[in-house]
Amino acid sequence: MIKLGTIGTNWITQRMIEAAFATGKYELGAAYSRHENTGNEFANQNGGAKVYTNLANFMASDEFDTAYIASPNVFHFEQVMLALKNNKNVIVEKPAFMNPMQTQQVLDELKLHPNLRLFEAARNVHMPAFKAVQQALKKATNIAGADFVFSQYSSRYDLVLAGETPNVFNFAFAGGALADLGIYPLYDAVALFGKPVKQMYYPTMIATGADGKGTALLNYDKFDITLNFSKISNSKHHSEIYAGRNIIAIDNGGEFTEAKLISPEQTEVISAKYTKNPMIPEMTDFAAIIAHPEDETLQAKYHVWLQLMQHVNETLNNLAISAGIHYPDKFKE
Ligand SMILES: NC(=O)c1ccc[n+]([C@@H]2O[C@H](COP(=O)([O-])OP(=O)(O)OC[C@H]3O[C@@H](n4cnc5c(N)ncnc54)[C@H](OP(=O)(O)O)[C@@H]3O)[C@@H](O)[C@H]2O)c1
Repeated sequence: MIKLGTIGTNWITQRMIEAAFATGKYELGAAYSRHENTGNEFANQNGGAKVYTNLANFMASDEFDTAYIASPNVFHFEQVMLALKNNKNVIVEKPAFMNPMQTQQVLDELKLHPNLRLFEAARNVHMPAFKAVQQALKKATNIAGADFVFSQYSSRYDLVLAGETPNVFNFAFAGGALADLGIYPLYDAVALFGKPVKQMYYPTMIATGADGKGTALLNYDKFDITLNFSKISNSKHHSEIYAGRNIIAIDNGGEFTEAKLISPEQTEVISAKYTKNPMIPEMTDFAAIIAHPEDETLQAKYHVWLQLMQHVNETLNNLAISAGIHYPDKFKE
């Protein structure tokens, strides 16, 4: 069994632990929270675990072997480095890091611990529908571009409208639409088509000084891809990849729960709607990599994901810079 140590007690950590338990491959070993009562509440709700309010003590403990990090983005880098130095595998929420220098430092540290594994929790690229689209693309011809959409009105935008600055819209925490939701369609594009040749981001800025929504244009040699994402409005647009007369249609570029191949003659469902906890596929994939260091096929897949993380991070950084956005690499009060 993989023993998890969690950072962050918001709903996403609860969703992750339920997915982890559902795979039958994980148990909860320890939980870190800044507040003992929040940590206890989370641990008790999940069968009990040792609770820490001191991060260094948590990381040094031997109650867990794999850290799951779901803190505000700006803290990921330091927490990941600390976890690796304490000989822990890492599953870090997206976006793992805020610039390529951080990513490189982490990859350098990882080289010193060849037994450890690091995963960016980009759940969309682990979904069955994503894997079905990858297969469909192998047979597709005349690719003419793609549009990936992921827009969900955030209840926390109501707080912004009331004059507050919740973390996810707080630039000091590396918040904003591109870092939060934009990374999903960005993962779609880079995982399916590689790094773009050029990229440009057109953000809609909101009162907090962060981007609330935006459109990114990725230029490839022979086609372009658009990414549309928003935390201040909803969209029901599907995502589509254009292949001559055919369309590979995805219900949602962020959720990636269902995929269809649409030709002028017929519509074929190539991956039926996934209705379970959407973190089960990624937690299943990560468990297999951690549990089978001897399996060359699995470890090769791991290295593809590690490189994908790096390519997504570089493109995220280039997009942000194209719009004059420079994410903080450290939290400053
Ligand atoms: N994969 C997904 O579907 C998904 C969904 C949502 C979010 N995420 C990712 O998960 C991460 C967390 O997002 P979130 O919206 O849950 O963030 P959040 O609510 O702002 O913070 C997450 C946790 O971090 C701790 N925290 C909050 N403010 C902090 C501060 N000022 N200093 C130190 N710790 C603080 C809190 O835990 P304690 O109070 O217990 O210390 C909190 O539960 C982000 O990277 C986000 O992109 C992923």
